[in-house]
Amino acid sequence: MMARTPIITGNWKMNPGDMASAVQLAADVAAQTKGLEGVEVGIIPPYPFVPPVRDALKGSGITVGAQNAFVEDKGAFTGAVSTTMLLSVGCEYVLCGHSERRTIFKEDNALINSKVLKVLSKNMRPILCIGESKEEYESGLNKEVCAVQLGKNLAGVTAEQMKDVVIAYEPVWAIGTGLVATPEVAQSVHAYIRSWLAGKYGQAVADDVRIQYGGSVTPESVDDLMACPDIDGALVGGASLVADKFARICRFQ
Ligand code: G3P
Repeated sequence: MMARTPIITGNWKMNPGDMASAVQLAADVAAQTKGLEGVEVGIIPPYPFVPPVRDALKGSGITVGAQNAFVEDKGAFTGAVSTTMLLSVGCEYVLCGHSERRTIFKEDNALINSKVLKVLSKNMRPILCIGESKEEYESGLNKEVCAVQLGKNLAGVTAEQMKDVVIAYEPVWAIGTGLVATPEVAQSVHAYIRSWLAGKYGQAVADDVRIQYGGSVTPESVDDLMACPDIDGALVGGASLVADKFARICRFQ
C-alpha cells in the first residue's frame, strides 16, 4: 500500500462576497501555509473567483477546484458551467454530490454519478461527497446510506479511475452546525467506506483511496480526527474562510 498523502481542501461555498476578499483570503492562506510539506492543500472557491484565486496562489503549491460542474461540454444550458471550462481555468478537482447540491438543488444519485464520470473523463479528480442526514444517523443507518451512495455514485468507475477519486464523508448533521463527529464515529464510517471500496475494487485499490472527513472541522478537532487510520484529510467549510484557522488545520499534528 502506498502511503496516502493527506489532503485538506477548503470549500468556500458561496463566500467570500467579492473578488477582492477572495484574492486576499487566498493570499493569506498561501502566506500562512508557506513551507508546509507532505500535505496536499486545495481551495475550492465559487466559480467566478477560480481564476483570480488561482493566480493569488501561484507558486504556493496550493491547487484550486470547483464546487460543482454540469455534465454537458457546451450548448444551450443557461447558467451551467462545464468541466471543459473548469479544466481550462486550472481546476484540478470538482466536488460531486455535496449535500447542499443534493438537498437544496435536488441533485440525485444518477446525476451525481454522471458528474463523477464526466470529471474523470476530463482527467480532473472528483471529490465525491457522501453522508447521512440526522434522522438517518439517529436510526443507525449511516453506513447503509453511504453504501447506497457509493454504489450509485461510483457506477461505471473503473479500478484504474479510482486512483483519481477522493471520497469525502460529510455527515449532514455535522455540516455548518458545530457538531463535529467524534473521531470514533468518523473512523468507524471511514473504515466501513474503505471496506466497501475493497469489496468492489479489491483491497489494494481501496487502500490507496483518500477519504476526507467533512463537517465542522476546526483547529481544535482536526488533530484527533487526523490521528485516525482511515481519515486521510478534511473538507473544510466555515473554518476555511479564516486564513489562520485553515492554515492550522492544514498543519494538523
Ligand atoms: O464541504 C465542507 C462543508 O460541507 C463542511 O462545512 O462549515 O461544517 O466545515 P463546515
